[in-house]
Amino acid sequence: MNTAQIRPRERDAIIQSLRAGVVPRSGQQHIQVGRVHEVTALVRDLERVAEGGSTARFVIGEYGAGKTFFLHLIRSIALKQRLVTVHADLAPDRRLHATGGQARNLYAELTRNLATSAKPDGGALAAVVERFVSQALTVAREQGVNPEAVIRQRMGELSESVGGYDFGEVIAAYWRGHDTGNDQLKSDAVRWLRGEFTTKTDARAALGIRSIVDDANFYDQLKLLSRFVRMAGYNGLVVCLDEMVNLYKLTSAQARSANYEQILRIVNDSLQGTSGHLGFLFGGTPEFLMDPRRGLYSYEALQSRLAENTFAVDGLVDYSGPVLRLSSLSQEDFYILLSKLRNVFAAGVADDHLLPDEALRAFMQHCSQRVGDAYFRTPRATVKEFLNLLSILEHNPGQDWRPLVGAVRLEEEVNPDLEPLEPAAVEADLASFRL
Ligand SMILES: Nc1ncnc2c1ncn2[C@@H]1O[C@H](COP(=O)(O)OP(=O)(O)O)[C@@H](O)[C@H]1O
Ligand SMILES: [Mg+2]
Repeated sequence: MNTAQIRPRERDAIIQSLRAGVVPRSGQQHIQVGRVHEVTALVRDLERVAEGGSTARFVIGEYGAGKTFFLHLIRSIALKQRLVTVHADLAPDRRLHATGGQARNLYAELTRNLATSAKPDGGALAAVVERFVSQALTVAREQGVNPEAVIRQRMGELSESVGGYDFGEVIAAYWRGHDTGNDQLKSDAVRWLRGEFTTKTDARAALGIRSIVDDANFYDQLKLLSRFVRMAGYNGLVVCLDEMVNLYKLTSAQARSANYEQILRIVNDSLQGTSGHLGFLFGGTPEFLMDPRRGLYSYEALQSRLAENTFAVDGLVDYSGPVLRLSSLSQEDFYILLSKLRNVFAAGVADDHLLPDEALRAFMQHCSQRVGDAYFRTPRATVKEFLNLLSILEHNPGQDWRPLVGAVRLEEEVNPDLEPLEPAAVEADLASFRL
């Protein structure tokens, strides 16, 4: 077992997140169980991205299987490899393709969460731009040339790409702000890059730029961003998109297929290696992938590209395809998870463990009686109660654990995705069939 010390800040962040029922943003390695092959496969993907390749992976698992946890784990590994990450959950108002601002919303959410190893919690876009500018300054000083000339020359490399010219103009505006001490100009440039301008008029007034990040250029902007982070000295960009089931839930068949077409573009670029230094990770449920009427499989070109290796049955596995299946945690995994949680709670000091092994087993037994297998298959609630139990013991020294374990209350979690779709969704589907 890992008995290395855990920094108090990291310990508190892990415990706070899990007690609030959310996946920790960092420190996952202290509680990670299983998934050795899956992690290995994705570490290899990240290396490929850093070397100039690309990847698109679909992390598929049932509710509670650990998709979000896994995406954050991979994200934190990416940061250590000098990759920049962006991440967001899809939602009704955040999609890959839209005409009412929802794709721009997704872009804005992604860039708000832009992270680097120095700023793993997000909000790092301004720092990346600043880093680019200061490197250009160094080069200019060394070569005895004007910094703006260096910046314009570097940005010239983007001008061939869709939207590349305006992107370069925004960076040049940032530089002017930097050079003249105009903080407003700098922050307007960053706001543009974060997709926060909603009208071209505003962008023009603030920056003299005629375009904005909008629904139509969502993917082009991500490609530009991946090239820009390279110029700022990082190894590439990893885009994590979770809760993909929201596309499956879209009521309009037309909107769904427009979004799937966007995914197809991303998958094709990645398979053909035309988008270098760029990786995509999608998290979704099996119905999002396989439902023949609403899932990715309803879009024929995607079905053929994402079809799983037909030999990978009866316990045979293949981790090289675009689809990565996460099976739910097993009972043994869960036992290890509890012992890791006990250890994190004690900040890695074995002598400070608040519970003996016997108590972990008693806890599992109790949960099993209350909610059956759900306690380890969808462990969010169980993990939360276990940490609450540890907290009581911490604050009440001398308290016997036995009566506490017996008093733990648990109810089976309901998977929100299994709730019926709105009647409107079903009707819209029927309507699209009649057409
Ligand atoms: N491999 C793992 N190691 C440790 N804990 C895990 C692992 N996978 C999932 N968990 C825990 O299980 C819970 C549910 O995982 P989550 O990622 O939210 O599931 P999903 O996104 O698939 O619904 C979280 O509390 C997470 O901490
Ligand atoms: Mg999740």
